[in-house]
Amino acid sequence: MSIITKLALAASLATALSGAALAQDLTGKVIGFSQIGSESGWRAAETSVTKQQAEERGIDLKFADAQQKQENQIKALRGFIAQGVDAILVAPVVATGWDDVLKEAKEAEIPVILLDRGVDAPEDLYLTSVASDQVKEGRVAGDWLVQTVGDKDCNVVELQGTVGSSPAINRKQGFEEAIAGHANVKIAQSQTGDFTRSKGKEVMEAFLKSSNGGADICAVYAHNDDMAVGAIQAIKDAGLKPGTDILVVSIDAVPDIFTAIAAGEANATVELTPNMAGPAFDVLAAYLADGTEPEKFIITESKLYTAADDPAGEYDRRKGLGY
Ligand code: AHR
Repeated sequence: MSIITKLALAASLATALSGAALAQDLTGKVIGFSQIGSESGWRAAETSVTKQQAEERGIDLKFADAQQKQENQIKALRGFIAQGVDAILVAPVVATGWDDVLKEAKEAEIPVILLDRGVDAPEDLYLTSVASDQVKEGRVAGDWLVQTVGDKDCNVVELQGTVGSSPAINRKQGFEEAIAGHANVKIAQSQTGDFTRSKGKEVMEAFLKSSNGGADICAVYAHNDDMAVGAIQAIKDAGLKPGTDILVVSIDAVPDIFTAIAAGEANATVELTPNMAGPAFDVLAAYLADGTEPEKFIITESKLYTAADDPAGEYDRRKGLGY
């Protein structure tokens, strides 16, 4: 190797190392986080993991709880822009209506990162989106059901997430894709349970009443575990066995669903990691250090869990995460 090549290699190694060192440093940065609210166990865990990730990195995190209202989120974002924060994280409650405020952030040169939900806005208005492939989540749940019921006729009741939110739209689409071509599996009824346990229970009670006390229902597909837990209670109150008389499949992988799976009262869940902030802070650090543009979509994993996957152990592994 020539001396010039050696020097060039040494120089590029030094640059890479200083980039890496810089890339890890968000100490003292002020970052605004507009959270949706606390509708589910998963949401509570995302909030607590985000705060913990920020603390570990020395970030001054400005937290705003929008109590499920987009208008509160837009107000919070405008407040962050007025304060001149270094960056903004937002978990958008619904998909539409973000263009104006995202343009304002862009004009102020404040990078915005979307966490766990998508928006219908031009991609150049945000730095990156850290989220799961929500269509895939629905597909994984639907594939599990199709395989589990085989040729048996199966009327499914669906508990949708918040109307207009990206997970409600995409998880519905993915599930429908998975059951398409399986004429024996049909969505018999579908309604929003707003991602909450109480609404999930209430809507499931109505589904049971209008389905011969539940005799005509083969499975419930809930867009999140909290609604599934509410549905499980409604099924038990109706004198049926959740997990046996009515199959239960949902999304999130929160500790309570593993308790239900271990008890045979739920059958399957698709994991959504609550750690969206870790990858977000990593790419933000690199971007603020030297302008490194991240991938536009950072996709987290969507793993299926059933009774065969040590539900008691999975409960233990998650219980300290703030769910
Ligand atoms: O956007 C992610 C979804 O929002 C979670 O699956 C649900 O629990 C939460 O409310």
